[in-house]
Amino acid sequence: MSVHKVIDVKRVTTHTLQAMKEAGEKIAMLTAYDYSMARILDAGGADVLLVGDSASNVMAGHETTLPITLDQMIYHAASVVRGVQRALVIVDLPFGTYQGDSKMALKSSIRIMKESGAHAVKLEGGQEVADSIRRILSAGIPVMGHLGLTPQSIYKFGTYTVRAKQEAEARRLLKDSKMLDELGCFGMVLEKIPAELARRVSESVDIPTIGIGGGAYCDGQVLVTQDMLGITKDFHPRFLRRYAELFDVIRSATESYVTDVKAGDFPNDKEQY
Ligand code: KIV
Repeated sequence: MSVHKVIDVKRVTTHTLQAMKEAGEKIAMLTAYDYSMARILDAGGADVLLVGDSASNVMAGHETTLPITLDQMIYHAASVVRGVQRALVIVDLPFGTYQGDSKMALKSSIRIMKESGAHAVKLEGGQEVADSIRRILSAGIPVMGHLGLTPQSIYKFGTYTVRAKQEAEARRLLKDSKMLDELGCFGMVLEKIPAELARRVSESVDIPTIGIGGGAYCDGQVLVTQDMLGITKDFHPRFLRRYAELFDVIRSATESYVTDVKAGDFPNDKEQY
């Protein structure tokens, strides 16, 4: 199946994303953590692959995104970069590598760019991380922001419920989104906020907004790939649409393999030397 694209390029850049917003073409972003999956998602036409710190949950089985380290993120990112021909690759700065110390933020970002070959970094927060964003941008490294539900602050929020439902928090989020735009970020993720607030943000900033539980007015959408493919089976937030049930497909293939091995049916004559 071919996908209609208004902006058709060999290699997606941050400028392509801006052009897509201006042309009204929605941006399709997915997470990726390894080479094999990155190759498939890139071949499927995903515009952006995010090496999210959700790797901490999805790949390592942690309860939160907090434990993953910079070295581990760089390992995942370098694997993804090797699998990609067209998509823009963005890497999350992990918890503890950029908050409160802009020099450390720059050092972490430089390590990501040099050691993985990725194209941009993403970090969570608004006003409180402005200095870090400024310093990273001053080195020529593109930065994506992330507002709304910011999972690195889960112990401050206490729950993963929808953010900014109250006017005061919504006003603060609008202000932060304008600040990210004015600082020079090339885009921002809006996670789990009311669709109407995401619409106000998307209309009031020049840069693209990418929603995850941010509703249809965002300039693009992102999902965690393993959720979208039905590999993580027990996660059912309202914003998630499953496009496959791979947990069942892979389990059933595994059962067939186990049965064949136990029965002596695999390998057969043609499958040996
Ligand atoms: O780490 C991640 O996967 C993310 C997305 C949820 C946007 O930040």
